[in-house]
Amino acid sequence: MQRRAAVVGNWKMNGTIAFTQALTSAVCAGVTERDHNHTLACDVILCPPFTSLSTAQHHLAGSPVRLGGQNISEAIGGPFTGEISGSLLRDAGCSHVILGHSERRTLLGEQDALVARKMVAAFRDGLIPIVCLGETLAERTAEQTLAVIQTQLTALLALLPTAEEQRAHWVLAYEPVWAIGTGRHATPDQVQEVHGFIRKQLTDRLGTTIASSIQILYGGSVTPDNAAALFAQPDVDGGLIGGASLKAETFLAIIDAYPKNF
Ligand code: PGA
Repeated sequence: MQRRAAVVGNWKMNGTIAFTQALTSAVCAGVTERDHNHTLACDVILCPPFTSLSTAQHHLAGSPVRLGGQNISEAIGGPFTGEISGSLLRDAGCSHVILGHSERRTLLGEQDALVARKMVAAFRDGLIPIVCLGETLAERTAEQTLAVIQTQLTALLALLPTAEEQRAHWVLAYEPVWAIGTGRHATPDQVQEVHGFIRKQLTDRLGTTIASSIQILYGGSVTPDNAAALFAQPDVDGGLIGGASLKAETFLAIIDAYPKNF
């Protein structure tokens, strides 16, 4: 089955209103032009900080670019000072949300079970979860990579909703912790090994049809120079881009690196 690819910009804790206006306008102009020229091979999703969602939404209106948040609470709403719910993100125009990023796992102690409950909350609130998985350098060195990925994935699959529509429409992002923001990306072979493993686990648990419709993105020091080789791997369906998503020129160059099979 032909999967649509996605390139997601994870702005992290960057993006004043003025920066958001400029970057969103430039990305939307570039993506809209590629769409009109029939050269856009992937979905494009921008994930600015919460304070810039409204500005970003205003500037991407009418373009194919979609909006995502970087985290949600598992709660529906109420007395959770400082938290943001999925329905608030929907209300702000989001279609997607990044969950379980390693920065949240490491700095804020988010564990597999909480990430899985947030995934359920995202589905409940009508958002498409983009759930991050990945091993640390110590785990890779100890040859524990696939075991770590399996544990993280098993926690998600245990809570995955039963509705086929939801099972088939979520996104996984393999992000080796040692590759994030370090300038040291995983090699295409390393990435395909893990993505192929994830696809096999999904196939065993969910069947071929559903497993082949789930997007698996790679993230970790993706740049215009390495994107094409990473995206050429059979189980790589695009990328989750941090630093290189903060400049329209580099982000659009990464979008252009996705192979065009049409
Ligand atoms: P990076 O970040 O592209 O700056 O390595 C990726 C991510 O953390 O999602």
